[in-house]
Amino acid sequence: MIEYTNITKDLPESVPFVGPETQERNLGFSFLARLGANESGFGPSNDAIKIMARESKNIWKYGDPESYDLRRALADKHHVSMKNIVVGEGIDGLLGYLVRLFISPGDNVVTTNGAYPTFNYHVIGFGGKLSKVEFLDDREDLNSILAAAIKTKAKLVYCSNPNNPMGTINNPNHLADFVKELPSECLLCLDEAYCDFLDADLIPKIEVENQKIIRMRTFSKAYGLAGARCGYAIGSEGLIKSFDKIRNHFGMNRTAQLAALASVKDKNHISEVRKKVKSSISTLSEIAIENKCLPVDTYANFIAIDCRKDDIFAKKVVKELAKRKIFVRMPFSYPQNRCIRVSAGSMDDMNIFRKEFSEVLKELR
Ligand SMILES: Cc1ncc(COP(=O)(O)O)c(C=O)c1O
Repeated sequence: MIEYTNITKDLPESVPFVGPETQERNLGFSFLARLGANESGFGPSNDAIKIMARESKNIWKYGDPESYDLRRALADKHHVSMKNIVVGEGIDGLLGYLVRLFISPGDNVVTTNGAYPTFNYHVIGFGGKLSKVEFLDDREDLNSILAAAIKTKAKLVYCSNPNNPMGTINNPNHLADFVKELPSECLLCLDEAYCDFLDADLIPKIEVENQKIIRMRTFSKAYGLAGARCGYAIGSEGLIKSFDKIRNHFGMNRTAQLAALASVKDKNHISEVRKKVKSSISTLSEIAIENKCLPVDTYANFIAIDCRKDDIFAKKVVKELAKRKIFVRMPFSYPQNRCIRVSAGSMDDMNIFRKEFSEVLKELR
């Protein structure tokens, strides 16, 4: 029998997220409202849709392994050099590359308990040792992350801003100070998957050549291209170049590259999506309050709704909503797991959620 590596042998049979499709197969029906994965029900830019339709017949070609045109457009957007940008198969793919670049078995990594689990999945997959600090007031606790990084001599720390699952943010100046205080042997992976929903003054301004930070961005959220699998990282030239040693050079889907490029060029789409998200989030807050729950102040395209009981109750709410064909999720860890997490969606989605959420709560209370 061929032996697995020591790391693989010991890995748990874990799946970071069970997809809604798996749930649909188990339940025997399709969801009516898909509000659990923070996708954008408002869809991609029309320009992206057009180019995907037009170029589908050219899918016989590999994508450009350098994602040149897309990197050019992203460099212009962020006022950095193309050498500061690497494109990859969503943030999820880039997180895997990042961990592979830095983490050998036994190396220390710090994250927040209950923060984005795909990062943890990669760290464990490369044999890294994860330390988890707690959220503070439903925010990533920068002081605790820093203290744990220093204590464990961590090589990598992870923070998301806005964070998943609570949608809260850290003050941009605090984040910039946090980077200054990090030891020079430690790299911050700042996951900004949801930063397209933020006003510019809430996004930390940090010199792109600062070697202590890499920022992760995606087309999966505001740009509405989750299924295309396209993300990018912004960082110092040397760090970005090092991805070339290990990345899957032909990993980018050609149509996804073209759709992402069309989306970056379409300035109107994002502002339209932001308006729709704002309106949907305010409807979800109203629904929470109508039902004597507490909406958590969110800066993302989803909202955590505090059901004002414990995790067992929140789990029941999620399960009962699923039976009523509504897909939502909930945070994994205490005390955030008192909440359910609901993505922004169309008016139809909101109407379905309004009706079923209130009935589920009546039933369970
Ligand atoms: C914080 C965070 N990072 C990354 C991702 C995934 O991004 P991508 O689709 O680019 O892999 C998600 C998706 O839910 C997320 O919440």
